[in-house]
Amino acid sequence: MKRLAYKPDALPPGARRLLYGGYCWLNRHAALLRTIGALLRRWPSIAGRFGLVVRARAVKSVLTRPRSFSNTSHAPNLVAGDYLIAMDPGPVYHDDRALLDKRLKVLTVQVHADCEARQRLAGLPQSRNSVSFDLIDDYLMWIVHRAIEPVFGTAAGNVAEGSQVAVGDPGLQRQYLLETRYVAGQLLAGSISTLDVQRRAEACAGALRARIKGVIGHIRSAWGLPPSYPSADIERNAVGLAWIAHAVTVQSGALVVQELLRHPEVYRALRSKAAAIGAPNVWNHVDFRKSVHNHVLELMRFRPIFPLLVRDVPRDTVLETGGQKDAPCAGGKSVVMLSIAALFDPAAVADSRRFCPHRDWGTDEDLRWLMFGYGDRRCPARKYAVDILTSALIGLLTLPELRLAHGDGKAIKYTGPLMSRMRMRFA
Ligand code: HEM
Repeated sequence: MKRLAYKPDALPPGARRLLYGGYCWLNRHAALLRTIGALLRRWPSIAGRFGLVVRARAVKSVLTRPRSFSNTSHAPNLVAGDYLIAMDPGPVYHDDRALLDKRLKVLTVQVHADCEARQRLAGLPQSRNSVSFDLIDDYLMWIVHRAIEPVFGTAAGNVAEGSQVAVGDPGLQRQYLLETRYVAGQLLAGSISTLDVQRRAEACAGALRARIKGVIGHIRSAWGLPPSYPSADIERNAVGLAWIAHAVTVQSGALVVQELLRHPEVYRALRSKAAAIGAPNVWNHVDFRKSVHNHVLELMRFRPIFPLLVRDVPRDTVLETGGQKDAPCAGGKSVVMLSIAALFDPAAVADSRRFCPHRDWGTDEDLRWLMFGYGDRRCPARKYAVDILTSALIGLLTLPELRLAHGDGKAIKYTGPLMSRMRMRFA
């Protein structure tokens, strides 16, 4: 969610590649971002002068003042057209949000995620000598898809296969998921991405819009919308929902697993609990699920997919920095919140540097979910997303010990800020 104030097209290609490479590299090094955050937290008033918001109190304050700090910062990065996340509050936002909330209510993600995870696990190689598998392509991508596709109701197959008659073709469905991945990637990388990355995102956005347009009648009836409901409004919501839901959840799942592998003692303890409970009870064991859920949240705190959030400043205002002095903020500029710094702010999070899934957040429970934003504009699907990742992780905990499959080339392949491959093998 990166946006720069100057016109990126004015950048020479070499400089842009360097800047983009640097941004992607930094995004992958959460520990470094945390260190930068810790440094800036010591001088919040100075950071505030440069439009950087680092203390938890200050980040919360910005995110709860949507009229002073606007979500329009996302607008230049929405290649597939306008959507909720970049809108200021108003009638269109209100109607679109009501439609989304209605669609989210139909989801029963745990049932679908558990079911898909179990099926995927059955298809994975399960011995030490067996070949590696791709955590993204062979596992997470499908679990997230199956859990979320019911938002399109009876039109889910038509959307995913871009066809009037869905036949359950996984190749076509994969094509759809890749389209949405690159559109979502643009939200993260923003206008500093290289021109070829932007072109790919635009091509995918075009394909996504065309596929939704082609099945708009199916979506209208699946969503129970009357003929008078404008097709353009259905298209905006369907396109937005298609790209915003999937890739970010898949990537977060991959980050959660990456982070778990960095805490071998935590991983070992979870695996032995899973083994003690045994299959199939492990899927329905209330305490275990709750514990894995807490682990997912804590792993996401260490590896948030959006370590930074940006807001536009429509008119002159004052920024609460959480330090001794507030900072003036000129209209027309942007502010950057280092959510990752807020999530580790010792003033708000007890023993913040320690990995502690069962920490008592007390009255700051909302801050615990800061990886999903804060205030009215926080992610409306946050609970669904964590439930899906909980199912995915429970499944992985039933497997023999996993590690990254170094050896057949790089285990993790990045496409811009997103991972496109994460190969795993048994230890
Ligand atoms: C792990 C997965 C996810 C993460 C980390 C995530 C993160 C976020 C964040 C940080 C925001 C707020 C952005 C801001 O304040 O600038 C947001 C907003 C949003 N998210 Fe998510 N999200 C996830 C999954 C999903 C899913 C599955 C859906 C849909 C089914 C979804 C739909 C939305 C929408 C529509 C908004 C905009 C809400 C508004 O502005 O009113 N997200 N998400």
